[in-house]
Amino acid sequence: MLEIKNLHAKIAEDGTEIIRGLDLTVKAGEVAAIMGPNGSGKSTLSYILAGRDDYEITEGDILYDGKSILGMDPAERAAAGLFLAFQYPVEIPGVATLEFLKTALNAQRRARGQDELKIPEILRRVKEAASSLEMDMAMLKRPLNVGFSGGEKKRAEILQMKLLEPKMCVLDETDSGLDIDALKVVSEGVNALRSPDRAFLVITHYQRLLEHIVPDSVHVLYRGRVIKTGGKELALHLEEHGYADVIDEAA
Ligand SMILES: Nc1ncnc2c1ncn2[C@@H]1O[C@H](COP(=O)(O)OP(=O)(O)O)[C@@H](O)[C@H]1O
Ligand SMILES: [Mg+2]
Repeated sequence: MLEIKNLHAKIAEDGTEIIRGLDLTVKAGEVAAIMGPNGSGKSTLSYILAGRDDYEITEGDILYDGKSILGMDPAERAAAGLFLAFQYPVEIPGVATLEFLKTALNAQRRARGQDELKIPEILRRVKEAASSLEMDMAMLKRPLNVGFSGGEKKRAEILQMKLLEPKMCVLDETDSGLDIDALKVVSEGVNALRSPDRAFLVITHYQRLLEHIVPDSVHVLYRGRVIKTGGKELALHLEEHGYADVIDEAA
């Protein structure tokens, strides 16, 4: 579903190379975890997948369903079924969460060539998804993410994911200090959406999240490259021993 081949990317502004020959394949139905010390390039990878223009790809390719996405803008990527949840969700003052969801859902449907949904149907879907996340509808009247607690932001994020039904979900949960509540929301949300035709790339600093979202594969990112790939036991190893021996082994 997602194939990253020898990717090299630098910060457009100052030319610093952050991603240095990254290879990664995520198959349909797979939950892949990316771990790695701070500053390895994990968040950068998620921004590049989203299509942010602050990074310049100098080599390599990113294939999604066999086609390169490098020429696609963020909206086209989203329409193709790519969903990104960032470490720091953006606050959108002045736009009620419900309004945002309505617009996002219909924009996505238009882009996929589907009919737009009428308000009652949208409300029905939002209510259903919100109640499964134990979210109060009153919260959805507030501007998106503005003044939301960490747990509420996570809920809003998973709510978007549920409604948009993406095929490839990328979640950057690195050192965002997920509390138990947020951890539960994210992991239950992801687990409920696991399906043979949907894949997840879960970026996390802590093994803890992976006790709840049991990954099919674990990849260690270090200095912009995947230096080791393994199964879920690799996450346990890292939790116990840290990254030092994996880094030494790769050197
Ligand atoms: N826009 C930017 N400007 C300057 N440095 C950046 C920028 N984006 C990322 N970096 C640097 O790139 C490296 C990787 O950062 P990041 O992707 O956030 O790592 P991680 O998420 O693994 O902790 C860090 O050294 C960070 O300081
Ligand atoms: Mg990060």
